[in-house]
Amino acid sequence: MALLEVRDLEVAFNTADGVVQAVRGLSFDVERGSTLAIVGESGSGKSVATQTIAGLTRGARVSGTARFDGIDLIGADPEVLRRVRGAQIGMIFQDPLSSLHPYYTVGWQIVEMIRAHRKVTKAVAQQRAAELLSIVGIPRAEQRIHDYPHQFSGGMRQRVMIAMAMALDPALLIADEPTTALDVTVQAQVLDVMRSLQERFGTAIILITHDLGVVAEMADEVVVMYAGAVMERAPRRTLFYRNHHPYTEGLLASLPSQGGTGQRLTPIPGSPPSLISLPAGCPFAPRCRYAFDRCWSVAPPLDMVHDDPAHRSACWLADDAQGRRDNQARNAAEAAAAGSSDRTPTPAGVGP
Ligand SMILES: Nc1ncnc2c1ncn2[C@@H]1O[C@H](COP(=O)(O)OP(=O)(O)O)[C@@H](O)[C@H]1O
Ligand SMILES: [Mg+2]
Repeated sequence: MALLEVRDLEVAFNTADGVVQAVRGLSFDVERGSTLAIVGESGSGKSVATQTIAGLTRGARVSGTARFDGIDLIGADPEVLRRVRGAQIGMIFQDPLSSLHPYYTVGWQIVEMIRAHRKVTKAVAQQRAAELLSIVGIPRAEQRIHDYPHQFSGGMRQRVMIAMAMALDPALLIADEPTTALDVTVQAQVLDVMRSLQERFGTAIILITHDLGVVAEMADEVVVMYAGAVMERAPRRTLFYRNHHPYTEGLLASLPSQGGTGQRLTPIPGSPPSLISLPAGCPFAPRCRYAFDRCWSVAPPLDMVHDDPAHRSACWLADDAQGRRDNQARNAAEAAAAGSSDRTPTPAGVGP
């Protein structure tokens, strides 16, 4: 049994403009000690999905299941969720100041965190707090536990938040864009800290990011989300080297080249659809250069591709590259004939 088994998760919000379908039929597993990356552009439902699993979305209509260590967290008693969160599921976010209180020293906050869940003396908790800060690489941890959050730099503050999330040795760490606000060097250091904690404590990680570079560094398994749904799911190497979904291909093409060769990026043309009245068919069709008739009318199921049971893609395209090139050439020709490209964006450098 996987540590976390999410099945058919749906999350919708009633708003003045209509019902926002933020997460649509999401299913995935997280194995103990492994890292699952959830990747996708802003607004694809990554945060809403994971916050719902942790019982943190309010006022949403939720259905589906999320079994954590055998307990379904969806619709679980708030008291159960409170116990699980913190003690068994640690969470870190892009902005540490959203989880760290500005008026208390970081040591005090970690101590309180430990004492809320464990019967230990203050001295023991304090000892543990200093140890944690030192584990995440904060120099002079014994002294620094007496400092306030604002006395730490961005990267160090992120380490403090990781220390707090790890304080109770959780089986799962949910990290939502943990390094997005940091510069590249500091980002690499923070990812290193997470990786070494994982090795040391066997923690499973759900890593949310819009950055495939981070995925390449960290993930065992990858879920690609778009418009609230999974477009592709695969082990990391498969996702990078044998991906199937055109959305994944687009994300990869927009990845900054490694090594600073200054190569130009090719962002995916267009923007994600409104989640209020999603049209029939594939949500990515309006931005897809391979789209053909069926894509516009019927949403493709998340089916196995390349005869690989670990690899799924929600796309009608055949597995072979020739079929894709034919579609692309035809779409480009049609767009050129129509003198417009509203349904079939043709990226620069691609022509019939
Ligand atoms: N409380 C809410 N009420 C209405 N819509 C929401 C709410 N929270 C999130 N959304 C919408 O749900 C969608 C998914 O958001 P989110 O999960 O934050 O995306 P991501 O984390 O992938 O960038 C977005 O369209 C967002 O506007
Ligand atoms: Mg988010």
